[in-house]
Amino acid sequence: MEHVLLRHRDIPNLKKLEVYREHGGYEGLKKALSMTPAEVIEIVKASNLRGRGGAGFGTGVKWSFIPKNAPETYVLINTDESEMGTFKDRELTENNPHQIIEGALIAAYAIGCHKVFNYMRGEFMDAAYAFEEALQECREAGILGDNILGSGFSCEMYTHFGAGAYICGEETALIESLAGNLGQPWSKPPFPAIEGLYKKPTVVNNTETLANVPMILINGPDWYKSMGTPQSPGPKIVCISGHVERPGNYEVHMGVTYRELLEMAGGIRGGKKFKALFPSGGSGPIVVDDALGAPLTYEGLTPFDSVMGSASLVFLDEDTDMVWATLKVIEFFRHESCGKCTPCREGTFWLDRVVQRIYDGRGTEADIRLLQSIAGGMKGKCLCALGEFSISPILSSIVHFLPEYKAKVAAAKGGKVAQPAAAAAVR
Ligand SMILES: Cc1cc2nc3c(=O)[nH]c(=O)nc-3n(C[C@H](O)[C@H](O)[C@H](O)COP(=O)(O)O)c2cc1C
Repeated sequence: MEHVLLRHRDIPNLKKLEVYREHGGYEGLKKALSMTPAEVIEIVKASNLRGRGGAGFGTGVKWSFIPKNAPETYVLINTDESEMGTFKDRELTENNPHQIIEGALIAAYAIGCHKVFNYMRGEFMDAAYAFEEALQECREAGILGDNILGSGFSCEMYTHFGAGAYICGEETALIESLAGNLGQPWSKPPFPAIEGLYKKPTVVNNTETLANVPMILINGPDWYKSMGTPQSPGPKIVCISGHVERPGNYEVHMGVTYRELLEMAGGIRGGKKFKALFPSGGSGPIVVDDALGAPLTYEGLTPFDSVMGSASLVFLDEDTDMVWATLKVIEFFRHESCGKCTPCREGTFWLDRVVQRIYDGRGTEADIRLLQSIAGGMKGKCLCALGEFSISPILSSIVHFLPEYKAKVAAAKGGKVAQPAAAAAVR
């Protein structure tokens, strides 16, 4: 299919302003600048573009929450991208930075913002260089700064490096970090649309979300809705990793099934059988083969008690030790918990300890129930979604792979604690 987002794969040097402009670049911005901000918001609303950062909130609706005529507002591009198995925003930023800049400028115009920040994951040096070069080209071409393209609208854009904390991808922690404070979330309300960066109305959008916007302006909402499903329209970059033949980013129309995505990635490597899928990096409940026929949409995995999230698919083969896989994920969340709220700080610590104990062959049947009890104590009580994310792999792995937990416990009882070559299985 023709790429809408990963267009750099078809067009060499798309990251250069000249090439980007030869292929329709900044025409979406020009169109937006010829309209009123309210009209721009209506077009984005009509497209039903939904946030690609995971939650799927309507982008136009989010923009419309910004109070009209607020004297100071901000647009923040979320390029923190720290979810495990997620690498789409990096590819976009390294290779197609102008499409993100254009989308962010359209957002800025729509909400009356004159300063945009791109909050970039600290390790993304190549992405930052590409983005900065693109910004500089824009400044020289009158696309950034005062009186953009002679429209009377002025806006600047800056890159800001994070320092490698997963929590700083959460929008309120991102805002704190950007302002120079400790990167920890706050309890909403206040919502960023009312009190965000420097306590001013702020829109936080994912990088991929914004890359959709120029094309919507150029081609219109009906064109956009001709892709995907009515509730989940448009193209989507899916990050596929794990035990597949061809890991990587795949741009698809939403609605494609998880089985089709596995086939696109060449199937499970070495001709092995599929065992489990982390459909949303570490953050969504694990699913098994009955979910492979589900469509990749915001709602598609609801019957399987899971979520699409940012569409980071980690496929695991038949040899994977699921207690080990769960341990790796909970270790991540324990490490990344910011410590501000007690349920998440303590809960992730204890979940990690107990799964480790079971994996090491020191666990009991009661430990399996203890995991469910700790997770139950965290559910709905954490300050932000990180704590909620952390319990999903545990609870879903117990649902689908209880015999594996029980086998470890039984082996511990019998003094047989030989670990399978689990680490090698996922490496
Ligand atoms: C722990 C945590 C980490 C997150 N990390 C990211 C991230 O790296 N990138 C991102 O766009 N959104 C991330 N989010 C979601 C953001 O809070 C926010 O919903 C998103 O940036 C909004 O953009 P969108 O509406 O365009 O999706 C994260 C949320 C949580 C709870």
